[in-house]
Amino acid sequence: MSEAVTSAASAAPVLVARDIRKVFGALVALDGAEVSVAKGEIVGLIGPNGSGKSTLLHVISGRTPATGGTVTLGGRDVTRAKPSDRIRAGLSIKFQLARVYLDQTVADNLLLAIQSQAPLVSLMLSRSRAAAASTIDELLEGFHLTHARSQLARELSHGEQQWLEIAMAMALKPTVLLLDEPTAGMSREERLATGERIRAARERCGVLIVEHDLDFIRGLCDRISVLHQGKIIASGTPAQIEADPRVQEVYLTRV
Ligand SMILES: Nc1ncnc2c1ncn2[C@@H]1O[C@H](COP(=O)(O)OP(=O)(O)OP(=O)(O)O)[C@@H](O)[C@H]1O
Ligand SMILES: [Mg+2]
Repeated sequence: MSEAVTSAASAAPVLVARDIRKVFGALVALDGAEVSVAKGEIVGLIGPNGSGKSTLLHVISGRTPATGGTVTLGGRDVTRAKPSDRIRAGLSIKFQLARVYLDQTVADNLLLAIQSQAPLVSLMLSRSRAAAASTIDELLEGFHLTHARSQLARELSHGEQQWLEIAMAMALKPTVLLLDEPTAGMSREERLATGERIRAARERCGVLIVEHDLDFIRGLCDRISVLHQGKIIASGTPAQIEADPRVQEVYLTRV
């Protein structure tokens, strides 16, 4: 285990979801699932289709109310908090389906993300406007989108739209970043670049990432948790997960 992993694992968790249950009518989507993320840590969440990964992220974000269990952000219980309050408490999410404003420019998409959380009055201050402009420049550069700053989001490639959405989630400077399949549909080069940006993000936050691409997640994550039928069946380093017979049985052999 690297030093970074050891120190991240021993840091106080920035996100803890405990004993999460979510029922849709007769379907039990989450059945006592749990996950925690420390500052500086990248945690992967894997599992077969329909195992509850997106639902767990939705419950953590407040988009879907939990049927049972608790969610804490930075030690604060947000189980019943509105999504907007969770964002103010440091949470940011990139959902599975891209949600960029297609008819706005790339730079304006980032500005809209920043404005969605800044009180209007603060944006009238030139200091805040300057801070927003420098955040936008930084994100455009980090995601190789500087050349596209004045293009409409709809003119971007699929991979670039995904980057824009991750950049919009990072624009809020979260303490916890949730990413649902951020590399879906990307080329190998785009995946590698995405991994670099996520690694850079960990400097100031903890990351929980859902992915189907095991090669990608193996190289990126400090820890991996495996969800199966709404329950976490294994959690450990990528090497421990790959060697775990339960994981091989329910997950690796099926994908
Ligand atoms: N809003 C909803 N209403 C009813 N059932 C739902 C709803 N959202 C999810 N489900 C069901 O809950 C289960 C878990 O779905 P979820 O989308 O969390 O899986 P997933 O692990 O993200 O799958 P995938 O890998 O395909 O994205 C599935 O059986 C799904 O059909
Ligand atoms: Mg999903």
